[in-house]
Formats: sequence, structure tokens, C-alpha cells
Amino acid sequence: VPNGLAKTPPMGWNSWNKFACDINEQTVRASADAMVSSGMKDAGYTYVVIDDCWHGERDANGFIQADPVKFPSGIKALADYVHSKGLKFGIYSDAGRMTCGKRPGSQGHEYQDALTYARWGVDYLKYDWCYTGTRNAEEAYALMADALKASGREIILSICEWGTNKPWLWASKIGNLWRTTGDIGDYWSGKREWRRGILDIVDENEPLAPYAGPGHWNDPDMLEVGNGGMTTAQYRSHFSLWSMMAAPLIAGNDIANMDAATRSILLNRDVIAINQDVLGKQGRRIRRHGDLEVWSRPLSGGRTALLFFNRGAAAAPVAVRWSELGLTSARPKVRDLWAHRELGRIANGHSATLEPYGVAMYTLTP
Ligand code: DGJ
Repeated sequence: VPNGLAKTPPMGWNSWNKFACDINEQTVRASADAMVSSGMKDAGYTYVVIDDCWHGERDANGFIQADPVKFPSGIKALADYVHSKGLKFGIYSDAGRMTCGKRPGSQGHEYQDALTYARWGVDYLKYDWCYTGTRNAEEAYALMADALKASGREIILSICEWGTNKPWLWASKIGNLWRTTGDIGDYWSGKREWRRGILDIVDENEPLAPYAGPGHWNDPDMLEVGNGGMTTAQYRSHFSLWSMMAAPLIAGNDIANMDAATRSILLNRDVIAINQDVLGKQGRRIRRHGDLEVWSRPLSGGRTALLFFNRGAAAAPVAVRWSELGLTSARPKVRDLWAHRELGRIANGHSATLEPYGVAMYTLTP
């Protein structure tokens, strides 16, 4: 993307997965506070993004305004607050007449809305795809990208048309990330209306690896870690897979009220470092039999990330030989990224026994 942003996958927090339309300025401020006090900011999380339902009505001149009850201080004041914490601020709109939550969409107001966002100090726009009728997706997103550019402010564009028009084929010159699937649900597997479980999303997003790179990422949707529908092992797997897939790491839980397990996942710097590796190559599944998978991801400095993944409910052993990974070193240095332990130099390969729905994750250094 010509805007030069998102050289590594964006990291932050978004209101939707936890709060949906039940948001207000206190919640957003508390989340910005928590981003700093929890250590998330220091670990790399930067963007505080308000999703759907912040909108009030357009004024007599067509300028969009915030809901005066939920955001009485206005969006500019909220953006200033977020910036005062050293964080960046994101907002949400829709390419159609209305947002999915039936608030005013940006169709026909693209330049005016982009200008408004720039005046407010917006750094990130998530742009949704409800009520778009017969609009052409590539044109609609390119129009908003042009409008953001013309606003004179550097704004990340997050394309949210759920993969319906294969955005990986056209969006890399328009936006910084594009959703590849329907909405994530806080559960392990299966399709429920427009929602998908972790396994379904992974299986849809994995083959798209060749389309991702610095500045333009596949987006398998925001994190559900800490929202309560899955076990700690499942959340560790979710976070590890998103990291291997170079996915945006946008927390979607109540970060102002996290338990220790949630914190230890979202703040795992070893796993975050894989996600944020500057080479920017999305990892691949290199082998699957039954419920057991082996993934690898090339990293900068000739290093490799390795993931063992157990989709199933039974604990099971998994093994890999270095020859399968095409390593340059016969005895790489191995670091276990969940045990936070150096295992030393290891010849031939490695194995681990995985808990139900669990992972083991490593960095291999030549
Ligand atoms: C659909 C998107 O996919 C979700 O992430 C969320 O933004 C909702 N719309 C909001 O209505």
C-alpha cells in the first residue's frame, strides 16, 4: 500500500468482540488506560479502535457526529485522550448506506468522512461492508483509500468485506489488511450463521499466505482470547496460530478486567515477536494427519518459527525432522515460546506431547 503503514501486522484493541454495540466513552478510556497499565502498550499493542455503534446523526451539512449520549465529550476529545497515553486511535465506518448496526454509513460521504476523521485525529479506519447493495467492492474501498489519502493524515485502512470478493487479489494496493472470512466466534469449530470457529477460520486463512507481506496482511479477524468461551489451551492455540499467520493482533476482550491466564497469553512477547517479525512472511501448515499439524514460518536472520498444533480432544505426541523444514543448520538452537525456555542446540528434529486442543511453539536459530 502506498501509505507506507503497517510494515508489521497492526496490534491493538477493538471494542466489538466483547462489547458489540454496548460501548461508550468510559469503556474506551478504560481500555486505553488498561492498554498502558497491563503492559500491553510496552508489548507492542498500539491501536485503540472503536467499532460499530459510536455514531449519532449527520448534521445539517452532512458531517457525521458521535452518539451524544454514549460519547458526550465527542470523538476528538477521546482521540486526544488516547494519544495522550502514547497510543493511536481507530474508528469504524461502512461502505454502504448504513453500518451493520444500522448507523449512518459513508456511502456518498467518503471525502467528508475522511476529512472529519483526520480532523479528529483518527489513525486507523475499519471499513465494513453492510448495506452496500450492488456496489463494487474494489471501487468502494479504493474510493475511501483515496479520500483518506486526500485528508493529509496517515490512516491505516482495514478492509472488512469478509473475503466475499476475494480481496487478497486486489486489496494490497488499497488497504493495509483485509478480512479473509466471516466473523470469528468465541468457540473452537463450526459455522454458526455468519460466525466461524477458530478451526474454520484457520482453514480458510492458511492457504492465503502468499498474498500477505509488509504493509498488506490477511486478517482472519480479531482475537477472542479472554472472552470466556474457550479453555486456556484453546486460547493459547488461537494466539499462536494468529501469530504464525502474521495476523493483526487486535485484542477483543475486556482488557481492563483480565485474569492472569488471559494476560499471560496476550503478553507473551516470544509469540508476539514471531507475529511481528520484520520479514513479514505468513507461516504455513506443512503437514497434517488427523488432528495433528506441523506449521513453520520463515523469520528474519535465517530463523524459523515452528508450531505443533493439536486440533482434537485427546492428548497426543507430535514430531518433526529438521529436514522437513528445510533448515540451513543441522543443529539449530531451540527456544520453547510457551515455556519461555532455551532448550539448547538440538540435532535431527524435535517432538512434544500436546495437551487437548494445545500447541507447542519454538524459534529455531541457526
Ligand atoms: C461485521 C464485522 O465483520 C464485525 O467485525 C463488526 O465490525 C460488525 N460488522 C459490526 O457491526
